[in-house]
Amino acid sequence: MSLDRFGRNINYLRISLTDRCNLRCVYCMPEDMTFRPRHELLQDDELLRLVNIFAELGFHKFRLTGGEPTVRAHIVDLVHGMAGTPGVEKIAMTTNGLLLDRLARPLAEAGMQRVNISIDTLDPQKFKKLTRWGEVEDVWRGIQAAEAAGLEIKLNAVVVRNYNDGEDLVDLARLTLHQPWQVRFIEMMPFGDVADFQLAGVVSEEELRATIAAGLGPLRPVNGGELDGEARLFRIDGAPGTIGFISSVTQPFCASCNRARLTADGRLRLCLLREMEVDLLTPLRDGADDDQMKAIIKQGIWWKPWGHGLAQDVIPLNRVMSEIGG
Ligand code: 5AD
Ligand code: SF4
Repeated sequence: MSLDRFGRNINYLRISLTDRCNLRCVYCMPEDMTFRPRHELLQDDELLRLVNIFAELGFHKFRLTGGEPTVRAHIVDLVHGMAGTPGVEKIAMTTNGLLLDRLARPLAEAGMQRVNISIDTLDPQKFKKLTRWGEVEDVWRGIQAAEAAGLEIKLNAVVVRNYNDGEDLVDLARLTLHQPWQVRFIEMMPFGDVADFQLAGVVSEEELRATIAAGLGPLRPVNGGELDGEARLFRIDGAPGTIGFISSVTQPFCASCNRARLTADGRLRLCLLREMEVDLLTPLRDGADDDQMKAIIKQGIWWKPWGHGLAQDVIPLNRVMSEIGG
């Protein structure tokens, strides 16, 4: 078990497989984003070794993120290797869905159980504007492939003022009337160079709920309003699916945070919205043994920050979202 100094049990690792992406969402990265050279990234064998070490430290849930995780070479082999690691119970992925058409089945067969697919609007023009390069039909194909492969599906929408804060929300939420999916709306968070845009465009959960309720009727709390992971869940009367809100900005869930992050360049990031990181790549390449790596990781986790400082205007500047993986 890996405890931090506030008594939180940290057992969920989110691994960024790459900082690259086949889209350029406006809330995530600049269009002319530059990426790290590949030799600065964790190699497959290094990643699998770290997964084994984290599993021995009590981590049992793992999520692959990016950038876009599916653009990493050998992702299916990596998932297969992770699934065969003792202690690894759950493997999930957060993806834009573009490549699921061909990857959903092999990933499911390799041992992946869940995917969170980003889809911020169903409107093709608005989708292109938000992602700069994307076609929403490709995401739909990906969603269908994920479903056919038996993967558990959640849909994620980041809400941006003047891009998708109106009927788009109602249309996305309406999907829950017909599908047993969880459709989640995410408050945009500020990072690095994109922070000014993000802060200007954030839409609060309160407003999102009001917009959706005006279109579809009252939202009834699920689980008595308790958080489900990071999301607060609601249901429209009679709907098979649920509507979730991830409100890191206006209603932080830091007190129940159980996660740590591994960046593609091998840093242990202790809080999404704090700059603190611990370098794992250098000791790994310098020949540290498993016990030495465990000591470094445990020490980092112990000092995990309590929570973010957005309310005090503290914004992480050392990386943008695509380098941490959400
Ligand atoms: N704030 C909140 N969520 C974001 N994502 C990307 N950038 C931001 C941001 N600034 C989301 C993506 C995807 C996941 C990788 O993180 O939409 O769901
Ligand atoms: Fe790529 Fe996801 Fe960032 Fe969009 S939000 S640019 S899909 S990593």
